[in-house]
Amino acid sequence: MVEGSSKRKRPNILVTGTPGTGKTTMSTALAESTQFRHINVGDLVKDKNLHDGWDAELDCFILNIIEEGGNIVDHHGCDFFPERWFDCVVVLQTDNTVLYDRLSNRGYNETKLSNNVECEIFQVILEEAKESYAEDRVVALKSDTIQDMSRNITTMTDWVRNWHSAS
Ligand SMILES: Nc1ncnc2c1ncn2[C@@H]1O[C@H](COP(=O)(O)OP(=O)(O)O)[C@@H](O)[C@H]1O
Ligand SMILES: [Mg+2]
Repeated sequence: MVEGSSKRKRPNILVTGTPGTGKTTMSTALAESTQFRHINVGDLVKDKNLHDGWDAELDCFILNIIEEGGNIVDHHGCDFFPERWFDCVVVLQTDNTVLYDRLSNRGYNETKLSNNVECEIFQVILEEAKESYAEDRVVALKSDTIQDMSRNITTMTDWVRNWHSAS
């Protein structure tokens, strides 16, 4: 049996972007306004103390809840999940000087800082998302300010309310 979007009663959303663009902030607020489940992939891996990063047990857990729908998956990469999992892929984008400040506040060293800022300048995650998902499911949202953030949450909350299963 193949799980597909047509079986879900609620959509699944992937929130992705370079570290520091606001994925966790947005996913937390969106989960609250939609009553969806927030899955922070990085935390999940850490909590389960998985040194290899992923295993069959975690795979099975994720598969089951993805099938139910109503998930917001928060992860910095996106070419890693099956395309059929997500009804919408949000790529957050931040001005590089703003991002630089956020990541230096986070204590990133110079190498990590420049790698991530470069990743943002070259729109690596957006390109990855466009290659991995149908173009009409990918949406790039600006995340420089608190106003951007609240507008994005409103946009996505409305999208969830208007979403209908393909079946
Ligand atoms: N749109 C935004 N406007 C202002 N500050 C933001 C915005 N998005 C995120 N931040 C701040 O930037 C930092 C990183 O956000 P976070 O959600 O942890 O990013 P990510 O999960 O993508 O790494 C946090 O301190 C957060 O409050
Ligand atoms: Mg995060």
